[in-house]
Amino acid sequence: MTAARIAVLPGDGVGPEVTRAALGVLREATARSGVVLETTSHPIGGAALRLAGTPLPDGTLSACLAADAVLLGAVGDPACDGEPRERRPETGLLRLRKALGVYANVRPARALPGLDGAGPLKPEIARGLDLVIVRELTGGLYFGEPRSLDLEAGTAVNTLPYRREEVERVAEVAFRLAEARRGLLTSVDKANVLETSVLWRSVVDEVGRRYPGVKVEHQYVDSCAMALVLAPARFDVVLTENLFGDILSDEAGALVGSLGLLPSASLGDGPGLFEPVHGSAPTLAGRDVANPIGAILSAAMLLRDGLGLAGPAALVERAVVRVLAAGLRTADLATGTAGSVGTSAFAAAVAEEVRTEARGVAKAEDHSLPMEPPGPLPASRDR
Ligand code: NAD
Ligand code: IPM
Ligand code: MN
Repeated sequence: MTAARIAVLPGDGVGPEVTRAALGVLREATARSGVVLETTSHPIGGAALRLAGTPLPDGTLSACLAADAVLLGAVGDPACDGEPRERRPETGLLRLRKALGVYANVRPARALPGLDGAGPLKPEIARGLDLVIVRELTGGLYFGEPRSLDLEAGTAVNTLPYRREEVERVAEVAFRLAEARRGLLTSVDKANVLETSVLWRSVVDEVGRRYPGVKVEHQYVDSCAMALVLAPARFDVVLTENLFGDILSDEAGALVGSLGLLPSASLGDGPGLFEPVHGSAPTLAGRDVANPIGAILSAAMLLRDGLGLAGPAALVERAVVRVLAAGLRTADLATGTAGSVGTSAFAAAVAEEVRTEARGVAKAEDHSLPMEPPGPLPASRDR
């Protein structure tokens, strides 16, 4: 038996509920894998601010740095909206990403079987949507200096810097993914206006020459936002800078039916950080109504990309698909007169499917459809 240390950061709002849901599934998926999960829970965000006076306590950070992987719920609390930047819940998450050095944020979005028509798109347009946004996560406008705010003077500054190496390393992740998928990489920028984007484009082209099997195209971010609605199925891997990736990934959530569906993996050279794309959804918090699929699929990414457990990861993904095929829906996906189930009931059904398949008990009626997730990130090439 080997042990895997998972630092669990439930955070704020619906964070604790979806994290609990994901942990139950994670335990079930690893129950027979020969890996023992050693989980420890730590505060972050508004919860940490109340407990320790800071959104990222030292104890939380050191536990994450010492872990094999980090599972996070969400941060954000309207009660903290008036706090100065360094005390905001979001600042805790940004500091954690920076400290872990997780520069590549991988956000897959896929039209799941049974959810045709769940989003605002006509089913024939949404069908076949299967893309991955690779968002640069530790640079750009989010971290650029100088930055300042002087409300009295009426001035504010943010800066959008990128260095060649920052673009190169995240581009490598995106190209490796594209190579393992359908071989199309769309690099999204604003090179008609921003110098940073001109550098971005040139580095992406340079990295692209090492991947002759991947077709590279460049698209302006405004045009990409439109194309995602008009023809989302044509995209494969979308590579973009921090802020553009933040915006486009919420759009992708809407396109597949709910932001609550999207998982993410933030990868660097140390432990990975796995969290749903959505935030703390304050209006849903504490009501057992949030969709746990984003968190559960983040746990699957943790298994595959964080612990190298591709089998258990696929088990979780198939279980989610089967529970949807059986008709279970949380409130965000329920349509018409169809009833919905709560966060914990949905997660329990997924855990039960995992248990059933893991035990090798074939169900009389098997709705199983392969998820075909992006797959493990192949190791960096020695070129
Ligand atoms: P949000 O993602 O919390 O919610 C956006 C919309 O999606 C809301 O309508 C919400 O009800 C819905 N939604 C979100 N998660 C859902 C789920 N699991 N199931 C069903 N519906 C879901 O974004 P927001 O409202 O702009 O922000 C709320 C707070 O969360 C803010 O403080 C923000 O800074 C923070 N935030 C945190 C993260 C993160 O922790 N990674 C991400 C985004 C926003
Ligand atoms: C996300 C969130 C965060 C971001 C916030 C909470 C700092 O919106 O993970 O998408 O902007 O990166
Ligand atoms: Mn976001």
